[in-house]
Amino acid sequence: MLIQKPADVHPSEITPPDLYASRREFLKTAAGLGAALLPGGRAASAAPDDDLKPTSCKDITSYNNFYELGSSKTDPAEYAGSLKTRPWTVTVEGHCEKPGQYALDDILAPQQAEERIYRLRCVEAWSMVVPWMGIPLAKILPRFQPTASAKYVEFTTLFDPAQMPGQKTRLLDWPYVEGLRMDEAMHPLTLLATGLYGKELPNQNGAPLRLVVPWKYGFKSIKSIVKIRFTEPQPRTTWAISGPDEYGFYANVNPAVDHPRWSQNKERRIGDLFRRDTLPFNGYADQVAGLYTGMDLRRNF
Ligand code: MTE
Repeated sequence: MLIQKPADVHPSEITPPDLYASRREFLKTAAGLGAALLPGGRAASAAPDDDLKPTSCKDITSYNNFYELGSSKTDPAEYAGSLKTRPWTVTVEGHCEKPGQYALDDILAPQQAEERIYRLRCVEAWSMVVPWMGIPLAKILPRFQPTASAKYVEFTTLFDPAQMPGQKTRLLDWPYVEGLRMDEAMHPLTLLATGLYGKELPNQNGAPLRLVVPWKYGFKSIKSIVKIRFTEPQPRTTWAISGPDEYGFYANVNPAVDHPRWSQNKERRIGDLFRRDTLPFNGYADQVAGLYTGMDLRRNF
């Protein structure tokens, strides 16, 4: 996510050869897992298997966007220690029969976290492959019994400048807010992530609970969620407030629609030397394109 200009290549983005070899090994497992994840046994991606080679844990946890912890890619890892993620409460409100304050464990239980290997594609034109741990949002939202008036779900990040020093600045309109249409939220690919690489989510990646919506630009994947609200009108989201002409509500990965300041048709996979073509819906078109039938995706960007 960029306020000014795309970041330069970070030295940590170049994969050492030995790491590459171990990724190939991991890939075999990853490809198998991916195929088991979707209904009907379809792979989680329309792209070739070697496109799901996980990015190194080091890169995933040290090259971050989390503006509450600073605006450079290395700030979140550096300042993550000030974020206290236990105890953690999520407020559920809006158009639902079971609003309330839920402890983290009550939100997650009785579901078991599962592994989902998804690409995360940032609007800054870089991408990663992350072995997330999490629970499909579709297994969690129905427990709050949303009513017929719930057309959208809005998510809010913790606001506490003492824990999140970036919130002492006016970089963004705090707290960070994101939203999904109800059918997007209930899509089987949409995940509430609680971990990565088989371990608890590091703070810089949005502990203890973050959204992962793999066919959308990374900024939809809101971190450190403290509020879930069912709404009738479309939520006003942080990046759309910050740059209405640059960051739309839908934010579907669409190589045919340029960001006003740079192209979106190629991306640099963190760890790769060369750029690759960006795929429509980040490679998940087979699974999600139907959600947008009849919509003008240039206008609803
Ligand atoms: N969530 C909050 N609360 N604050 C942020 O600044 N950045 C977004 C998204 N979620 C952000 C956020 C952006 S721009 C991206 S690309 C992803 O988080 C990055 O996730 P990662 O750091 O785990 O790769």
